[in-house]
Amino acid sequence: MNKLPIWIDGDPGVDDAAAIMVAHDAENLQVVAISVVAGNAPLEMTTKNALGLCEMLGADYPVYRGAGKPLMRPYEDGAEFHGADGMGGATLPETKRTAESEAAWDALYEAAKKYEGKLEVVSMGPLTNIATALTKYPDLKDRIHRIAIMGGSVTRGNRTPCAEYNIFADPEAAQIVFRSGASIVMCGLEVTEKAYLTAEELKSVRTSAKGEFYYQASKHILEKNLEAGHPGFCIHDVCPVLYLSDESLFGGEQAGVFVETQAELTLGKTVCDLYSDKQFDVKNTFVVLDVDREGFVRAVQHALLDEKTGGSENGV
Ligand code: BDR
Ligand code: CA
Repeated sequence: MNKLPIWIDGDPGVDDAAAIMVAHDAENLQVVAISVVAGNAPLEMTTKNALGLCEMLGADYPVYRGAGKPLMRPYEDGAEFHGADGMGGATLPETKRTAESEAAWDALYEAAKKYEGKLEVVSMGPLTNIATALTKYPDLKDRIHRIAIMGGSVTRGNRTPCAEYNIFADPEAAQIVFRSGASIVMCGLEVTEKAYLTAEELKSVRTSAKGEFYYQASKHILEKNLEAGHPGFCIHDVCPVLYLSDESLFGGEQAGVFVETQAELTLGKTVCDLYSDKQFDVKNTFVVLDVDREGFVRAVQHALLDEKTGGSENGV
């Protein structure tokens, strides 16, 4: 089977962890590498978590370190949801592997050249690494196939009333990406809040070691999501990975999307022309709005239960 090469950039992060497991499990995706950024936890921690997740999966995906802080703003962690270690206190295996010495943005550019326009980039944390790569290598936008982002929303926020966390964390970086001319798929809160597992569905994976790890990692966020009125644990970051693996599970529309970087109340809002009379000149983004939740649950449960190991075909 011709697998789609994907580069995963994220801040693991409890839902990032599920996304990495779903990517590893998907028969039609080939994870080329994982790059990490400061977000849900500091860079040291997101690096350790990415390496620990690879160890747990028996995968040898190279891990590249990126930015330890946003482009222009101070760093704030996500400990309230993800715990101080980014994994809700759940234990990942120790590993002897370390991160690669090359910076995330340089390695991403090399991979884009190697895969000759076919590389799919998944972003599931602040967009600092990807913005740095697009700025340093202006031809990168034409050398990748798409950037599938978990971030933003058409209507409302979660980190503030207007802004979703990943965009709010580094709005200048997000604006660079949305203005870059790259082909963008945005999985914002409209779809990712429909991408949840109920408490029962989450408990059902506890029969495997990976599933038990994941239950322990996510039970605190599950409680917080239930308190906030969601029907279960929204595993936001799985959406862009699953979109690349099986677009038929999703629906959306092409629209213009740009990011507010100046205002006080609306900082980090992804301003989208989907429901507006006035349209932007450019329709730069495919905005994903719906997911077949049953298909989503099946994919996540399969990834958390499946005993697949390996990853030797991968690497830059
Ligand atoms: C996003 O914020 C982070 O906390 C999650 O990992 C996800 O990427 C959801 O708003
Ligand atoms: Ca994330």
